[in-house]
Amino acid sequence: MNTFVANLPTAQDTHDFGAELGRLLRGGDLVVLSGPLGAGKTALTQGIGAGMAVQGRIASPTFVIARVHPPRDPGGVTLVHVDAYRLGSLAEVDDLDLDIAVTDSATVVEWGAGLVEQLAEARLVIDLQRGADSDERTAALTPVGGDWADRLARLPCPGARPGR
Ligand SMILES: Nc1ncnc2c1ncn2[C@@H]1O[C@H](COP(=O)(O)OP(=O)(O)OP(=O)(O)O)[C@@H](O)[C@H]1O
Ligand SMILES: [Mg+2]
Repeated sequence: MNTFVANLPTAQDTHDFGAELGRLLRGGDLVVLSGPLGAGKTALTQGIGAGMAVQGRIASPTFVIARVHPPRDPGGVTLVHVDAYRLGSLAEVDDLDLDIAVTDSATVVEWGAGLVEQLAEARLVIDLQRGADSDERTAALTPVGGDWADRLARLPCPGARPGR
């Protein structure tokens, strides 16, 4: 498993990195985001949405667990943005009826680690961490199955270095 670590000094860097990632996404993809409160999971997803050119503002409003952002252009990919923070079990995830396999949407799940892995064999796992006393974030990207390792190799990772 080749983990890559990207250094993201500012919120803009996180947005831009998300946009690069968004341009790589295809229908059927699952991206699992983890990291503490305020780590930048939503900020990264906003960049992903920009890269995918989807409609609507990407946010994590209280009590909204899943939002669907259709593509602006026909033929584009829909972004399904899930915030699983309030979900406690796979049963609750099941209740959302997320169909990861559908080929016209890509699913990004905040707080999905430990909950959604079994929804898709192939996935990209991203762990975001914040520095102690700076805005800098680090994103550790781990490809799981599919062609994620190949696709990650094409991703310009700022300050990329092989991970742990
Ligand atoms: N380098 C950076 N990358 C990302 N966000 C940053 C960075 N520096 C500062 N920020 C700020 O940190 C905040 C990150 O908030 P965000 O909502 O994206 O976190 P989150 O991980 O989704 O939190 P939650 O667990 O509440 O969902 C934003 O206000 C963003 O502007
Ligand atoms: Mg969030």
